[in-house]
Amino acid sequence: MHPILEPGPTILAEAAEVIAYPQDRPLDEASIRQAAEGCLGLVTQLMDPVRETVLSTPGLRCVSNVAVGFDNIDVAAATANKVMVTNTPGVLDDATADFAFTLLMSTARRVVEADNFIRQGRFRGWAIDMMLGTDIHDATIGIVGMGRIGRGVAHRAKGFNMRILYYDPYPLPPEVEQQLGATHVELNRLLAESDFVSVHTPLTPETQHLLSTPQFTAMKRTAILVNTSRGPVIDEAALVQALQARLIAGAGLDVYEREPAVHPGLLQMPNVILTPHIASATVRTRSEMSAMAARNMATAVRGGRPPNLLNPEVKR
Ligand code: DGY
Repeated sequence: MHPILEPGPTILAEAAEVIAYPQDRPLDEASIRQAAEGCLGLVTQLMDPVRETVLSTPGLRCVSNVAVGFDNIDVAAATANKVMVTNTPGVLDDATADFAFTLLMSTARRVVEADNFIRQGRFRGWAIDMMLGTDIHDATIGIVGMGRIGRGVAHRAKGFNMRILYYDPYPLPPEVEQQLGATHVELNRLLAESDFVSVHTPLTPETQHLLSTPQFTAMKRTAILVNTSRGPVIDEAALVQALQARLIAGAGLDVYEREPAVHPGLLQMPNVILTPHIASATVRTRSEMSAMAARNMATAVRGGRPPNLLNPEVKR
């Protein structure tokens, strides 16, 4: 559906004839279905809607998503149509955790604002009250979703001597909690006590708009919100209102509710840092994601069981 990085194309070309989706074609379901006709597999990315229309294509055997998140794919419909679905877990955890911390620190220490200040020629000398930010060390971080990436963020937070709270419907084993120095709490307590809230939950019907007006109201007025997971976990319009009403102090966002659209209210705010869904965007990580997705597909077209199969019931 989109170009991927080496060695992905080489791995795919060794396994099958590869047809590139034309770059100027729309990414709606009907167009993707048309492209899927006659194909054994589709290598997709997170912006490709893959639902019943696509999944019912006769002969389609596998959809390999080049992402760990797979909310763009209706896995139940895939299973019903006996189509395997795969993703790329693990290889992007550290790059994403690094980037969550990058956003956290840049927002807290006003890095983008400060850079603009210099470029606009406004730096006329040191001043004691210039660009004052928020301490990161010794602060409390609340991690919403304690999967691999959330744990990576906790690991980094430990290095900053932060107090670590986390919310997840599935608490970690006590020994892992102890190793990370993380305490499992209910979401409301996390929101009330955290100086930084970093979101790492997958997008599911349960997590859609997990954070909206009541949650922003529960947060500290000095708190900073970071999201590197999926945009719709946060009610973006409510976030804009919360920032305008100063219910919270700032946000670092890499994902948006209606990507690539960004709520216009966010664009006006100097206390918000916006990046274009690049948390996993390092050369090595994106290349490993491409390789993993290609290997998943190569295995499927050769009749095997791909290593990162999300619906094992399709292929026993
Ligand atoms: C994913 O993999 O789900 C990210 O959002 C993109 O790397």
